[in-house]
Amino acid sequence: MFVKMKSIQESETIYTELMIPSYANFGGKVHGGVLLSIMDKVAYVCATKHSGSYVVTVAVEGVEFLSPVEVGDLVTVKASVNYVGKTSMIIGMRVEAFNPRTSQSTHTNSCYFTMVAKNDDGSLKEVPGLLLQNETELRRFCEGKWLRENAKQKRETLKGDLLQFTAVQLHEMLKTDNCKIIN
Ligand SMILES: CC(C)(COP(=O)(O)OP(=O)(O)OC[C@H]1O[C@@H](n2cnc3c(N)ncnc32)[C@H](O)[C@@H]1OP(=O)(O)O)[C@@H](O)C(=O)NCCC(=O)NCCS
Repeated sequence: MFVKMKSIQESETIYTELMIPSYANFGGKVHGGVLLSIMDKVAYVCATKHSGSYVVTVAVEGVEFLSPVEVGDLVTVKASVNYVGKTSMIIGMRVEAFNPRTSQSTHTNSCYFTMVAKNDDGSLKEVPGLLLQNETELRRFCEGKWLRENAKQKRETLKGDLLQFTAVQLHEMLKTDNCKIIN
């Protein structure tokens, strides 16, 4: 039995941060790790608002940095709860970089953070269900459910599939890859 239901709007989170010079890598672009750290914090805020508790990050799916982010850009992260299980929440994240000089906005990344709610003693905490109020919310919930089942299946398949090969077969499979097996 779910604790109670909450709307997606109640926890929607939008955060904007200026990309300062100390965030840059040697190529002058913003480090991917800086963006991940900002995204993790925004996912935390969104999930903690929905669950009303402390949360932890369990998995991140689909992070791809499609275009570089420049120093001076204003990065906006939009986060909403797309799917909830019993104790977990999938937070959909959209990242945009706005260049204030050109007024150009670039969609740099969309991904999913899975967060799990915890009680103060570290035990898992049940989260409120989601009230789905339109077709977009319904589709996102279904995507989340699919993503979760698919990710679990992929992890299990990968473990099982690799176990069935002998070391000799693995050597054979990697013979055109960029590696050298030395024992
Ligand atoms: C993730 C964690 C809570 C799982 O705990 P557990 O006792 O194994 O509990 P369960 O297997 O019941 O999983 C709890 C929930 O997490 C989900 N989950 C577990 N592993 C997952 C994974 N790899 N990917 C996505 N979701 C996962 C489960 O599906 C379950 O969701 P549900 O309750 O909505 O059905 C626990 O391993 C943990 O605390 N990890 C550390 C998290 C952390 O410190 N993060 C910060 C990283 S620096």
